[in-house]
Amino acid sequence: MDSSADVDWSALRRKVEALQGEFHSPIDFGNGIVTKPWHVQRRFSRRLRLMNIPADLSGKTILDIGAWDGYFAFEFERRGAKRVLATDVWNGRGLECFLLAREHFKSNVEYLTLDAHDISAEKLGTFDFVFCAGLLYHLRHPLMVLQKIRTVTTERLIIETNSLIPAVHESTPMITFFPGDDFDTHGRHPGTFPTQAWLADALHLAGFARQEVVYKPSWKFVKKLQAFATNTPQKGRLIMHAYVQ
Ligand SMILES: C[S@@+](CC[C@H](N)C(=O)[O-])C[C@H]1O[C@@H](n2cnc3c(N)ncnc32)[C@H](O)[C@@H]1O
Repeated sequence: MDSSADVDWSALRRKVEALQGEFHSPIDFGNGIVTKPWHVQRRFSRRLRLMNIPADLSGKTILDIGAWDGYFAFEFERRGAKRVLATDVWNGRGLECFLLAREHFKSNVEYLTLDAHDISAEKLGTFDFVFCAGLLYHLRHPLMVLQKIRTVTTERLIIETNSLIPAVHESTPMITFFPGDDFDTHGRHPGTFPTQAWLADALHLAGFARQEVVYKPSWKFVKKLQAFATNTPQKGRLIMHAYVQ
């Protein structure tokens, strides 16, 4: 974080305030300027911890897909990554948030506006680590995207998503139909939520040699009961690491 004396803190505060509501993450600009309240800060710290990302990323190249304001991308840079590329479709003013933070931190995180469905090694090159958190459930073609992600990953994919928790048949590889963010679903399709079994099979099919579950939804059995009582599958956080070798 940059707390050097040459920062015009009042100007920065005004810029951050002008973007209030557009930030997704608790970006800490220093000098008391943080974009989200304490409970969001706590949630993101917890997410970071649960994701089990190596503390030392020295020498690694990392692709962050669906980066929004860059919270995780900046963290990878802080952990020593050699190159970080943040990509997103950046609907709305998310890119402005990212750019403000990038400028303030004097960061070298690169950025590219790119739909995850259009990922290719020709466009992006390859990366030691690919990170995608909170992305899968926005996708119209999740399996296709995972296959494309595999082509740009040389070591490991870290994926965090909401997973589907049905009342029964949880071990069946199921995924909810979601036409995509650009389609008006009238609230009928909350998102592309896979069961853990679906994600495991999809990662295998995409060409990852092995995988490990680093976090499963908490309160799963309560959610299953809820799913049974409401006749509606519930959802919960799932984090997996998938390895090329
Ligand atoms: C729930 S936010 C997750 C942000 C951040 N990765 C995190 O986990 O906190 C989803 C992000 O994915 C982006 N996104 C949605 N659909 C996308 C797509 N097809 N390709 C790339 N990014 C997409 C959104 O713009 C948004 O920034």
